[in-house]
Amino acid sequence: MRPPLALLWWRRRLGQSRGLLGARPSSSSSSSALYEPTFRRSVHDPESLWGEAAGRLRWFKPWSVTLDGSKPPATGWFVGGELNICYNALDRHVETGRGDQAAVIHDSPVTGTKEVISYKEVHRQVSKLAGVLAKHGVKKGDRVVIYMPMIPQAMYTMLACARLGAVHSLIFGGFASKELSVRIDHAKPKIVVTASFGIEPGRKVEYKPLVEKALEMSQHRPEKLLIYSRPNMEAVPLAPGRDLDWHEEITKARPHDCVPVPSEHPLYILYTSGTTGTPKGVVRPTGGYAVMLNWTMPAVYGLQPGEVWWAASDLGWVVGHSYICYAPLLHGNTTVLYEGKPVGTPDASAYFRVLSEHGVSAMFTAPTALRAIRQQDPEADLGKRYSLTRFRTLFVAGERCDVETLEWSKKIFKIPVLDHWWQTETGSPITASCVGLGNSTNPPAGQAGKSVPGYNVMILDNNMEHVKPKTLGNIVVKLPLPPGAFSSLWENEEAFKNLYFQKFPGYYDTMDAGYMDEDGYLYVLSRVDDVINVAGHRLSTGALEEAVLLHYAVADCAVVGLEDPLKGHVPLALCVLRNGVNVGEEKLAEEIVRLVREQIGPVAAFRKAVFVKQLPKTRSGKIPRSTLSALVNGKPYQITSTIEDPDVFLHIEEVVKQNA
Ligand code: COA
Ligand code: AMP
Repeated sequence: MRPPLALLWWRRRLGQSRGLLGARPSSSSSSSALYEPTFRRSVHDPESLWGEAAGRLRWFKPWSVTLDGSKPPATGWFVGGELNICYNALDRHVETGRGDQAAVIHDSPVTGTKEVISYKEVHRQVSKLAGVLAKHGVKKGDRVVIYMPMIPQAMYTMLACARLGAVHSLIFGGFASKELSVRIDHAKPKIVVTASFGIEPGRKVEYKPLVEKALEMSQHRPEKLLIYSRPNMEAVPLAPGRDLDWHEEITKARPHDCVPVPSEHPLYILYTSGTTGTPKGVVRPTGGYAVMLNWTMPAVYGLQPGEVWWAASDLGWVVGHSYICYAPLLHGNTTVLYEGKPVGTPDASAYFRVLSEHGVSAMFTAPTALRAIRQQDPEADLGKRYSLTRFRTLFVAGERCDVETLEWSKKIFKIPVLDHWWQTETGSPITASCVGLGNSTNPPAGQAGKSVPGYNVMILDNNMEHVKPKTLGNIVVKLPLPPGAFSSLWENEEAFKNLYFQKFPGYYDTMDAGYMDEDGYLYVLSRVDDVINVAGHRLSTGALEEAVLLHYAVADCAVVGLEDPLKGHVPLALCVLRNGVNVGEEKLAEEIVRLVREQIGPVAAFRKAVFVKQLPKTRSGKIPRSTLSALVNGKPYQITSTIEDPDVFLHIEEVVKQNA
């Protein structure tokens, strides 16, 4: 659906644009001059910056209000406008001559296959899949849960939902059935889409039984289960009346056109961890997200359309949603979809092979992956066999990049390695070295970049006072949030307001702590809530504690992050046993580990439980987790005067030492 008037309007806007990246041209418009004016423009004239960026996409109906601040704390972007992100990611490129370019390269060392898929072919598959979903009743606003491995069909499903205006919710394969069932009950999908299996080192992940188990646990009943059986393997058995076979359905399918949706329409719900055990469903508005992602590809990552880009994450995380699927396709890049690990598939040269074979220009990964490579191949002797002629920049995020890993990576890859910081809630980086805007590609070690235009990052103390440079405080973002940031929490508007905008009125509370230096570089140090970061994955200690407490022998429990040379942190459970439990600690610990794996999933990397007589509590009954976390990591800790029995700390210190 392409109303000619809207197209004319779009071309007019594009013709008026001031420059590709949004800075007003100056007489000496070298790229290094772009960052400061663009950032200032994002603060003082956000409507013009983002309006111009939005003009680079195609809208079925022009927006009437660029920035709508009438419903704080949420910010409406491009209100009144209608678009379709799938149209912008696929159809637009096919229509303008990019159809034969590779859109997706699926590189799967775990199955020994590689597939290069053109924009034309992705468009064909997605249109037909949208036809299948529509035939089975999926329409604008309906939810579709996706639980699949790293295969192109997972991306097709995301894009097919977007094509129809259906809201997808993709659940990471490393979550167990229980977590899947909680998300199914919350999102209430019309259809669940899954695949026959995925492969993790040393084991096959059978998705169908995991989905069946989740459905047994959930109240909500999706009408259909669409199952993709992977080639050359036995097809999974189908339940008559409910289950649909992907291949059969696609063969009969009629392609479906794009459905225009309002700019504010939710594209997806992505569940993430918070302080409590209940996952938070981050809601992503379509229009602003498309605009921001398309803008970041050249501005933050320095890419030209047509170049190959690789985000080595998982589609189940925000990085996967934004930078494996939507951003590269919106911007006309080729995206690598990698079904493998940095090591073990088959060895520590895997990343080098992919970079070399596919001519990757820029890559995004988590520091933990680089640590894994370094651990197995300290001088990258295996990797050095590959020539990386096109590789220009390596971006890292997901957790703080320790200086040693950063320096090692620079030495090995011989290109800029840039840490940048972001969150599921924002959908794109909050701070970064925007290489396309001329930020330094050799920033000080330990920093995570400067405020990306749109994010006015500040450091406040607990009394909302601005702190001096290099002083630790709460990292906040002055409102309004830019296009693409979350617009709510799914069916929980109250939590959206209370969790993120109440503590510091007028600001978005990132719940990270850190400091900024005189030059505006941000240093992110820790979370201020009860979230720990395990191998670049965000996990709720509250959810882990709930799982541990399901064990009959555990009376009380605190989960804290134990420093780990590979994963950054791993969870450690400090458990208090019920009176009269006569089972050995080793056996109990094994049972608890198994229980957490069943409840949360292997992603928790939960392997350690120790037993203590008592947990410290404040007078109001809270467990001082940050003090405990310092204690278990052998760091100095301070006992506040509100702690009931300070001696408990000495006892815990002793137990942790014995179990080290
Ligand atoms: N489906 C099912 N299980 C999965 C899974 C998936 N998609 N992804 C991970 N798991 C499982 C793993 O098999 C492992 O299970 P195990 O306990 O049986 O071994 C468990 O979850 C933990 O996985 P992981 O954290 O990946 O640890 P690992 O020891 O297998 O690998 C690294 C270590 C460093 C190689 C790995 O953590 C890694 O590549 N990290 C990069 C993280 C990343 O890209 N983050 C994105 C944020 S930007
Ligand atoms: P997630 O929403 O799962 O992407 O996790 C976001 C959290 O990961 C942030 O709030 C930080 O705590 C952490 N994080 C992400 N990127 C970085 C980074 N570059 N440096 C430090 N912490 C990071």
